[in-house]
Amino acid sequence: MKILVTGGAGFIGSHTLVQLLRAGHEVIVYDSFANSKPQVLDQVKLLTSKDFPSIKGDLLERDLLNKTFAEHRPDAVIHFAGLKAVGESVEKPLDYYQNNVTGTLELLTAMETHGCHNIVFSSSATVYGTPKYLPYDEEHPLSPESPYGRTKFFVEKIIEDWTISNPQASAILLRYFNPVGADDSALIGEDPSGIPNNLVPYIAQVASGVLPHLQVLGDDYETRDGTGERDYVHVVDLAAAHLAAINYATSQTGCDAINIGTGTSITVMEFLKAFEKTVGKPLPYKIKPRRSGDVAKMEAKVDKAKALLQWESERNLENMCETTWRWQRYKMSSN
Ligand code: UFG
Repeated sequence: MKILVTGGAGFIGSHTLVQLLRAGHEVIVYDSFANSKPQVLDQVKLLTSKDFPSIKGDLLERDLLNKTFAEHRPDAVIHFAGLKAVGESVEKPLDYYQNNVTGTLELLTAMETHGCHNIVFSSSATVYGTPKYLPYDEEHPLSPESPYGRTKFFVEKIIEDWTISNPQASAILLRYFNPVGADDSALIGEDPSGIPNNLVPYIAQVASGVLPHLQVLGDDYETRDGTGERDYVHVVDLAAAHLAAINYATSQTGCDAINIGTGTSITVMEFLKAFEKTVGKPLPYKIKPRRSGDVAKMEAKVDKAKALLQWESERNLENMCETTWRWQRYKMSSN
């Protein structure tokens, strides 16, 4: 199959490219490189010994997007491109709506124009908002609490409406929980610019001495040890879910939202301890106040992914730490 991958040079995009190429699919990457580096695509080529075209472009560049569809005629799209920082979205909501919502409208319009009917969309568990019950199943009410989360919610609705209007259309909305880890080769991984917002890249930078200590954001939650609990899913497992989702999307029509997590959750302190074991030394931390907008616990119900995609996560916490650490060391040595 020929698959257009928007945002293919990003963290999840690059790991998904590897699996698509290994499964024999042809890929075309469309990425603005606003938050990623083109060199990542060279690493993917090195890892897979396969070549593929890439276009430096924004989804808002209508002519370029149409030209890309006309030239490559993809059978399906995996749509990762978008802004993703919760805090930044509060500061710059219009940028988020423009990029994520208008960008997707442009993408769907181009798909419609060029007769491409299949899409897998990179959504997020953040669409659920504060849990009314746990684990979240896909029927849990949607109540996103940041502009970023609302862009994911609106895009889900737009895609769903598109599939209702177009009987040939097929869409899978993958609601990711917390993606972490890196490829076993350590050639690709998460590469945030500046100080990381997320826990695992932050711990990796403490372990390598770039940052002095972890700030544990709250130790008075109603969880096992008082620190926040999340459902961390390995990016290689997550990439495999995209492969399964694209196969499913092209075999049926309609729209389905599917949680992608492990179904278990880990606290901040448990993650820190596991990372200490991987690096073989204690890691400094300080207890700080809660971060505004954080909830105590998030955990996925993963039955739908098993039933529809025959997918479930395979990698454990130890592997998440090991691959993150290997990638962190590679990054430091190649800078
Ligand atoms: N945390 C710390 N210190 C830090 C960073 C995070 O203690 O320096 C804690 C948080 O309080 C939370 C946990 O670690 O309890 C995980 O925080 P992350 O920032 O890594 O992840 P979030 O769960 O807040 O958010 C992530 C993505 C969002 C996405 C959401 C969906 O960043 O884009 O998962 O579940 F929407």
